[in-house]
Amino acid sequence: MFFGYEVSPTTHCPGLQTMTSIAGIEFREATTDDVPAMARCRLADPTDSVADPRMAAYFDRRHHPQQALLPRVGYIALANDNVIGYIAGHRTTRHGCAGEVQYLFVAPPHRRQGIGTALVRLLAKWFQAQAAQRVCVAVADDSPVEAQPFFESVGASPLKRNWYGWEDIGVNANPRDY
Ligand SMILES: CC(C)(COP(=O)(O)OP(=O)(O)OC[C@H]1O[C@@H](n2cnc3c(N)ncnc32)[C@H](O)[C@@H]1OP(=O)(O)O)[C@@H](O)C(=O)NCCC(=O)NCCS
Repeated sequence: MFFGYEVSPTTHCPGLQTMTSIAGIEFREATTDDVPAMARCRLADPTDSVADPRMAAYFDRRHHPQQALLPRVGYIALANDNVIGYIAGHRTTRHGCAGEVQYLFVAPPHRRQGIGTALVRLLAKWFQAQAAQRVCVAVADDSPVEAQPFFESVGASPLKRNWYGWEDIGVNANPRDY
């Protein structure tokens, strides 16, 4: 089990894992090849900024956010094989944390169905496997208004100005614990 979702290796993509769908949504690890579809899905939100153009370089370990370490991972959510959400994060030494959530987005028609929460849990599981407990995420004044209540709903709390964090994301991202 993987935070409540069955994990089964794909037959055609060695190294990737596909999680069984929940309410018609499937989740799997992202690759650089998924970045164009991830960027396209962000266009579904006219109120939000476009996807970070450095996203492919981030996955390829050519773009490094401040104090980022090389280990990093992303997950995508798919509906009918279309990317409708994504998350990514990396190991870091920023703000005394061992991990940072770098990207998180769910397309508007699919919001408030638990997909953002499921993506955070997948990333939390990866951080757990990396023995990274303290994890930060930027929530700035210009972040979408839903960012703060969302991160609070998955157990994060204010870390410092413009930042939220989990003391132990492995505990706080566990659905039994919040
Ligand atoms: C933030 C975001 C990822 C949430 O995705 P989501 O799939 O809608 O999240 P969930 O359905 O798992 O929501 C879990 C909880 O978060 C809180 N929440 C989510 N959206 C909210 C909103 N617009 N207003 C208030 N609370 C909200 C609620 O407590 C919600 O639980 P509920 O639906 O049972 O009330 C999505 O709204 C998004 O992509 N926003 C634009 C990009 C962004 O803000 N990214 C994060 C900062 S980088």
